[in-house]
Amino acid sequence: MTPAPTPTPAPAALRWGVLGATSYIATHLMPAIAGTPGCELTAVASRPGRTEQAATAGEPFGAAAHPDYASLLADPAVDAVYIALPNTDHVEWTVRALEAGKHVLVEKPMAMDEKGCARIEAAAEASSRTVMEAFMYRFHPQQARAAELLASGAIGELRVVRASFAFGIETGSGNIRLDPALGGGATWDVGCYAIDVPLFFFGQAPADVSARFSRRPGLGVDTSAVATMDFGRGRSAVVDYSIDYGPRAWYELQGTHGTITVRNAWAMSGEDGVITVLTADGIREETVPAANHYQLQVAHFAEAVRTGASALRVPLADSRRTARVGEALVASAAAGGTAVACGGDESTAPR
Ligand SMILES: NC(=O)c1ccc[n+]([C@@H]2O[C@H](COP(=O)([O-])OP(=O)(O)OC[C@H]3O[C@@H](n4cnc5c(N)ncnc54)[C@H](OP(=O)(O)O)[C@@H]3O)[C@@H](O)[C@H]2O)c1
Repeated sequence: MTPAPTPTPAPAALRWGVLGATSYIATHLMPAIAGTPGCELTAVASRPGRTEQAATAGEPFGAAAHPDYASLLADPAVDAVYIALPNTDHVEWTVRALEAGKHVLVEKPMAMDEKGCARIEAAAEASSRTVMEAFMYRFHPQQARAAELLASGAIGELRVVRASFAFGIETGSGNIRLDPALGGGATWDVGCYAIDVPLFFFGQAPADVSARFSRRPGLGVDTSAVATMDFGRGRSAVVDYSIDYGPRAWYELQGTHGTITVRNAWAMSGEDGVITVLTADGIREETVPAANHYQLQVAHFAEAVRTGASALRVPLADSRRTARVGEALVASAAAGGTAVACGGDESTAPR
């Protein structure tokens, strides 16, 4: 009699810990982690003196509360860490987590300069752990659909990308985005999306950028910006972003034969994406059904941990590129809008 085949054991679940019990994490990321097959949320940490906050956030998921971030990194029941701290803390805590042997999904921006990304890359190599910047918008299926339309030739060859991202933050609200000491400002917040869109669709860094920033009085951070990017061979981008105005999350890909417009690039988990394609034949609209892109991002990261970081949809090369272009925008604005070089051709094609 042939012996029954031995069942293949299910892979062990990826056990997650979260640094920073922010309300956004509690409402979006924690449910996404807990709801992803093969993932468990086991721990949450808050700054010293705020363990109660971590306990409250973790309680619905049965996650343990840690009294500080270092204690969570020492927890052997944590394999991967989600970092949702102020921008100035991203590099430090990502490196510490990698050194503690954890995989890391870190909020955008991974770093506010290319040097910070290089430190993270070196730590990831030394620890053989996976690290990715949490650019959640890339995981909404409407971005894949826009890339698919572009690759299909629907608008010919890509020539101009326009991207516009904004949401308003009240002065005096205490929001970390208004605090220069915590890496505040529009560039390193909504600006990350506006910067990433042309880089992603052209699949390279621009040759140079020019930017003008405006600042709300008394704040010490940039609050609105308009920038241009030159990608060479007649290809360019125009981007604007703001924390002064009402919400906007829109981009447009203009090619030699038409234009693809993504009207709500930050579509929330329950919202459909809407894409229009304008050509000489007329305009048509497509609906891309709602998806939980936070959960798609978590599932993708968990799969990359299991199968190898080479499959990452936001590879480290892209994060370095975003940081480099952000730095160049800051330098250009400081110099009154003069063009600043940022590397030109490199990196990958749209995925
Ligand atoms: N992808 C997205 O959709 C999205 C949305 C929102 C935010 N983000 C990103 O997530 C990160 C956090 O943003 P947020 O809006 O969640 O911020 P937030 O609500 O102010 O939370 C930041 C958290 O960081 C911790 N923290 C450590 N040092 C701090 C300090 N000196 N001041 C204030 N908080 C401090 C706090 O957690 P403990 O007190 O628990 O330690 C706090 O809850 C940013 O990098 C932002 O870009 C991304």
